[in-house]
Amino acid sequence: DTAVVTGIGELATGRPQPVENSSLEARRPRGALSVLRDAAFVVQDGHVAWVGPAARAPAADTLIDLGGRAVVPGFVDSHAHLVFAGERAAEFEARMTGSPYTAGGIRTTVAATRAADDQRLRANVRSLVAEMARQGTTTVECKTGYGLTVEDEVRAIRIAREECDVATFLGAHVVPTEFSGRGDEYVDLVRGPMLEACAPHADYVDVFCERGAFSEAQSRLILDAAVSRGLPVRLHANQLGRGPGVQLAVEYGAASADHCTYLTDDDVAALARSSTVATLLPGVEFSTRSPYPDARRLIDAGAVVALATDCNPGSCYTSSMPFCIALAVREMRMSPAEALLAATLGGASALGRTDVGHLTVGARADFAVLDAPSYLHLSYRPGVPLVAGTFKRGLLVA
Ligand code: NIG
Ligand code: FE
Repeated sequence: DTAVVTGIGELATGRPQPVENSSLEARRPRGALSVLRDAAFVVQDGHVAWVGPAARAPAADTLIDLGGRAVVPGFVDSHAHLVFAGERAAEFEARMTGSPYTAGGIRTTVAATRAADDQRLRANVRSLVAEMARQGTTTVECKTGYGLTVEDEVRAIRIAREECDVATFLGAHVVPTEFSGRGDEYVDLVRGPMLEACAPHADYVDVFCERGAFSEAQSRLILDAAVSRGLPVRLHANQLGRGPGVQLAVEYGAASADHCTYLTDDDVAALARSSTVATLLPGVEFSTRSPYPDARRLIDAGAVVALATDCNPGSCYTSSMPFCIALAVREMRMSPAEALLAATLGGASALGRTDVGHLTVGARADFAVLDAPSYLHLSYRPGVPLVAGTFKRGLLVA
């Protein structure tokens, strides 16, 4: 079965570098955005089989005429914490009236998550993934980290794997209350039995390396355990202050260093030299009233940048990639083209995926149709529900 999607007023998609060339340079999604007007593409078996001017589109079994709307690749949300119960609106209210964000609130969600049954947790994840789809997201990474017992982390990683595209084990989110004052013992649990039980279901291992969470030495122990099992790693790094997170991420060849809010020149240089993606999460700075990361400094130095939501009940409870794109453009001096690339190809790069985040021939036919003439409207019209339809593998999902 083939379908031709035609009447695309503007097709904005990144051109990934060829994968045959394995040099570092080639793996970086810094190719310029490619924008085609009056375009069409053909979907076959859930993948893009042809792209070109609408006037030259081949015939197909089905015709989808978009009437001049813009199309972008489905957003790749490469950082989210969706397996949780409860909410923390009161904590948000306190922050907005002067209290600082501390990661301590994570323990509130841990208690609510432990108390919830599997069905409730799964339903919560599904509703958030559906909410994301309505805003154009077609690939979702989902972390554990609100269970923090072997049993609760295993059910979280199973649900993440079954309901999302990429599942990340984050047993090292915070030291849970019952291990208070015994952080090293908790680290032994995480890198031992907990990792053992979760590894079969996990695509990545993540560590929250930060004052108040896990130290450099503790992070190394967990990263070493992941590496020795052949699991790739990613890190929560330099969110609340400068620290060793980014350097550790680069040293361990992490897929991404996430947050990157407080960076030294050395951190920026290390990211620029590496294949580790700098994943920026501006919804967190918005929702914690913190300074935004310096995207310009990273891009100008040559680092690969991704944008993601960090959707979680504490530091940032938004599921909206368009909102993050708008923040990146307005608050982080990213151009609209850079922000769209970071939200698509950048996220794909952060997840080690070459089949999503773009719409060149061979890609998965994951795309969002905008009720707008151009992708520029994603940041030009903030807060407006512009996504008219979201397609995954060529099928309408929202
Ligand atoms: O990415 N940094 C650590 N974890 C989350 C926050 C989780 C929470 O506050 O519940 C984050 O911001
Ligand atoms: Fe996070």
